Amino acid sequence: MNISIIGCGYVGLVTGACLAELGHQVLGIDNDEKKLAALQRMESPIYEPGLEEMLHTNCTEGRLRFSGSIAEGVKHGQIIFICVNTPPRPDGGVDLSYVESVSQEIAENLTEYRLIVEKSTVPVRTSEWVSRTIREYVREDVDFDIASNPEFLREGTAIDDFMRPDRVVIGAESKRASSLLVSLYEPLNAPLLLTDTKSAELIKHSANAFLALKISFINSVANICTLSGADIKKVTKGIGLDKRIGQQAMEAGIGYGGMCLPKDVSAYIDIAKDLGYDFELLRATEAVNNRQRLWPVEMLRQRFPSLKDLKVAILGLAFKPNTDDLRFAASMEIINLLQKEGAHIFAYDPKAMTNACRCNPFITTCDTPYDACTDADAAIICTEWSEFRFMDMHRLHRLMSRPLIIDGRNIFEPERIIKHGFEYCCVGRPCSV
Ligand SMILES: NC(=O)c1ccc[n+]([C@@H]2O[C@H](COP(=O)([O-])OP(=O)(O)OC[C@H]3O[C@@H](n4cnc5c(N)ncnc54)[C@H](O)[C@@H]3O)[C@@H](O)[C@H]2O)c1
Repeated sequence: MNISIIGCGYVGLVTGACLAELGHQVLGIDNDEKKLAALQRMESPIYEPGLEEMLHTNCTEGRLRFSGSIAEGVKHGQIIFICVNTPPRPDGGVDLSYVESVSQEIAENLTEYRLIVEKSTVPVRTSEWVSRTIREYVREDVDFDIASNPEFLREGTAIDDFMRPDRVVIGAESKRASSLLVSLYEPLNAPLLLTDTKSAELIKHSANAFLALKISFINSVANICTLSGADIKKVTKGIGLDKRIGQQAMEAGIGYGGMCLPKDVSAYIDIAKDLGYDFELLRATEAVNNRQRLWPVEMLRQRFPSLKDLKVAILGLAFKPNTDDLRFAASMEIINLLQKEGAHIFAYDPKAMTNACRCNPFITTCDTPYDACTDADAAIICTEWSEFRFMDMHRLHRLMSRPLIIDGRNIFEPERIIKHGFEYCCVGRPCSV
């Protein structure tokens, strides 16, 4: 099938590459000239394991190409996926201006039937609004369908998530639209859930909100563990073995970040408000997360009379491992706060340092975690990259000015670290102080 993907970011690029891998003819469209130039050189503008290789193979074999023209995309794709960004507005609601401008441009170029699919995460009833927008701008009396096909991939494991999804949700209002999407996804052999568009839109926000709720819940329990002397790892295991609860999205730490959960939770609060419902459960989820993200700063404040001129090593900048994505990463908020209080930041991340320097030029980036920790008064682990688990703790101890580790992701066993002579501080587990 001929497929067009508008917006070649974390979602669009993975979707396009995977659909090409499945044998479709895919045209990816993006209006970011730098990104487009990289893609046309078969280079991935983002870090996602396996993506660059997949891009290269599918471009070379002629199934995947890129363009800056939505008109070309409308001409090419029987199915057109909208994968543009839907960032938060300052009031927490969703900025749909990118979706709107793309919808308008699709409409202006529509000359025969196309299935237009929202893959971007959008508020319930957006498909009706997109449909109205297209009808307003379409030049001829052409037939089209709008469907909702929310994406559940996670950065860092995006290709596997796309190819082996837990489920594929297809929200459509016509048999023609749902049949096209069913035939596209059938080769994945995943459970296909057919719904109306509004339900599909709501499934995405509800799923992310529930994941965020689980994380804030377990972080609240971790805080009770700290106060009572219990161990959150044991508590989590004990409750997660209940099949109704499960072990996933239950890691205590410095909360959730990234381009999905924070913005989708605040969007859902706003959507509910517009519909006349106060989603207080989600307001609490958000408040808990906002507080939890700054836990490492609190730990430092408890240990030093002032943070001025403290040398702090930040291990991990990306919002999660195996990505270079810094959007809504706890690390950046922590760094900003520490810098405001006069601390000097030396950071290491395997993939996100270029993006970090772009966001905050006052961070000194280091080539290794050891360089970041040399003469440091404390090290804060913000991302659970697996290489941190295998650091030479003996060497680290020797390098640091004060061997204090504040582990925002609970990657170590406390006894082992304490045995190495570290002052060790973790979330919801008995630690050295
Ligand atoms: N990142 C994730 O893990 C993830 C997972 C599931 C769903 N989502 C949702 O998918 C959507 C996209 O997220 P993302 O992380 O891929 O965003 P992104 O910012 O990485 O990518 C969006 C892309 O759209 C392009 N774009 C914007 N306007 C355009 C236009 N008019 N024409 C052509 N290209 C245009 C941008 O240049 C950018 O490359 C969002 O709604 C997000 O909430 C993201």
